[in-house]
Amino acid sequence: MNKNKTLVIIGAGGHGLVVADCALSLGYYNNIIFLDDCLDKLNANSHWQVSGPTANWVNYRENADFIVAIGSNTIRAKLIAQLVAKQCHLATLIHPTAFVSQHSSISYGVVIFANAVVNIGARIDEGCIINTAATIDHDCHIQAYCHISPGVNIAGGVKVGKLSWLGIGSAVVEYITIAPNTQSGAGAVITKSTQSNQLYMGVPALPVRSLI
Ligand SMILES: CC(C)(COP(=O)(O)OP(=O)(O)OC[C@H]1O[C@@H](n2cnc3c(N)ncnc32)[C@H](O)[C@@H]1OP(=O)(O)O)[C@@H](O)C(=O)NCCC(=O)NCCS
Repeated sequence: MNKNKTLVIIGAGGHGLVVADCALSLGYYNNIIFLDDCLDKLNANSHWQVSGPTANWVNYRENADFIVAIGSNTIRAKLIAQLVAKQCHLATLIHPTAFVSQHSSISYGVVIFANAVVNIGARIDEGCIINTAATIDHDCHIQAYCHISPGVNIAGGVKVGKLSWLGIGSAVVEYITIAPNTQSGAGAVITKSTQSNQLYMGVPALPVRSLI
């Protein structure tokens, strides 16, 4: 295994720090470069220096892996599409304490954090965040650019539409379909398939407002 690789992390906020920690725990990146458009603020608070604005990614495209560490699903999607169009290599980062079934499939640009579980038959499409201690059970399909927040539990056979954000501690019952761009509030329990572009809250979760 090549242990002399550079990882360029785009986005140096709190999520970016967790991404960097995850990458270092894997032992094959010896150089972490942060790019972010808010240089001054982030350099004062971060464990790592921010090397430059996002546009500086072009300086690293030949030799580095890239990961986009921006919580906004739409911004992350846009940046990943730009990097892929320029033939940059998008990393997939899986923390060593996560369990990811060898019979699952994980696409590029995905991060899976500590103590997460991805069970047999699950499919995680590009650019998803599977956050700390989230569980994705058998045969789920998490479409591109979703954020599955810490402590979310998704039962078997659920499809989560692209750009959805399930809030911290949400639970989803088996074999339902979460429509694209669904958001759930912290602790929501989703018991029925959802309509797209809606925020759901509560137990059982109900739509409370449109996101567009
Ligand atoms: C649901 C959510 C998006 C609503 O945010 P918001 O529109 O700014 O709502 P507010 O904070 O103004 O709260 C509005 C009301 O909803 C209530 N509320 C907020 N979140 C709630 C939730 N998850 N479940 C039930 N009620 C909630 C508030 O207590 C408040 O009630 P009140 O009017 O009686 O005082 C947000 O509270 C939330 O749960 N975000 C998820 C955060 C998360 O998962 N972060 C993980 C990052 S890794």
